Amino acid sequence: MRRPNPPRPPAPQRAGQIKEVSSLANPVVKEMRALQLKKERQRTGLFLAEGLKLIADAIDQDWPIRVLAYAAKVKDQPMVRRIARAAVDRGALVLVVSEDVLEKISRRDNPQMVVAVFEQRLIGLDDIDLDRSSVWVALETVKDPGNLGTIIRTADSVGASGVILIGDTTDPFALEAVRATMGSIFNIGLAAATAEEFVAWKRRTGVPVIGTHLAGAVDYRSLRYAEPGILLMGNEQSGLPDDLVAACDHTVKIPMAGRADSLNLAVATAVMLYEMRRPRLKL
Ligand SMILES: C[S@@+](CC[C@H](N)C(=O)[O-])C[C@H]1O[C@@H](n2cnc3c(N)ncnc32)[C@H](O)[C@@H]1O
Repeated sequence: MRRPNPPRPPAPQRAGQIKEVSSLANPVVKEMRALQLKKERQRTGLFLAEGLKLIADAIDQDWPIRVLAYAAKVKDQPMVRRIARAAVDRGALVLVVSEDVLEKISRRDNPQMVVAVFEQRLIGLDDIDLDRSSVWVALETVKDPGNLGTIIRTADSVGASGVILIGDTTDPFALEAVRATMGSIFNIGLAAATAEEFVAWKRRTGVPVIGTHLAGAVDYRSLRYAEPGILLMGNEQSGLPDDLVAACDHTVKIPMAGRADSLNLAVATAVMLYEMRRPRLKL
């Protein structure tokens, strides 16, 4: 299971500068490429994000940035100049790089012209301020990075407070998951806990937990959903285990009329979130 973040070491001394780099042997480029590996993300507490708008939004929200890298051909764009200045002001290292280097960092043929390294933020359950929360989505051992990223994006879209990762889940800071969030990873909270910690926290706080289950006998449209509240979703293959079902105040089902056995996890989460947040969503 992922543990909440330990205190971060200070940013490296070489920070706060702009450098031109075209070599894949450059040590910072090597460190950025290594962030494709989970063990490196866990060791450093850092992660990669791509895309000008997304990175600009993250910087505007004061998300701690360590490195900003962009292609020489976009260096005079006003937005790139603005975020480069902001990154330097925050002590980040800024690299003007070749497209070849960008391709290798993001492992893509047509890479985004801007990539950045940010610090991960993962809190524990006791850091969740329930008084200031709407809905948190709790995901039991979610395995697919695309599902997780889509759920984070959907949770952001409905104004949910965040996502709780229960047990041994896929890494929310993997590039594939971050891509699928489309920037929402910077907008909502992320917490991690074991199943036992989650059940104990539910008992301690009394926060209502709504589980979704294919064996549920209650139509999800028949409940009134209180806030703060927790929407608890099961794993892609095995659904919710019994100990977590037992922690739920209600288990609900989304009716299905065709021959499909179940909905995709991210789709089921979206259906539930739009129902739970329906009274508060206005055009
Ligand atoms: C792909 S389903 C898991 C299917 C698994 N074989 C099972 O028996 O639960 C992943 C999760 O999506 C949610 N889900 C999918 N379809 C649902 C439905 N029709 N009603 C309620 N929850 C659903 C549940 O949280 C479920 O654990």
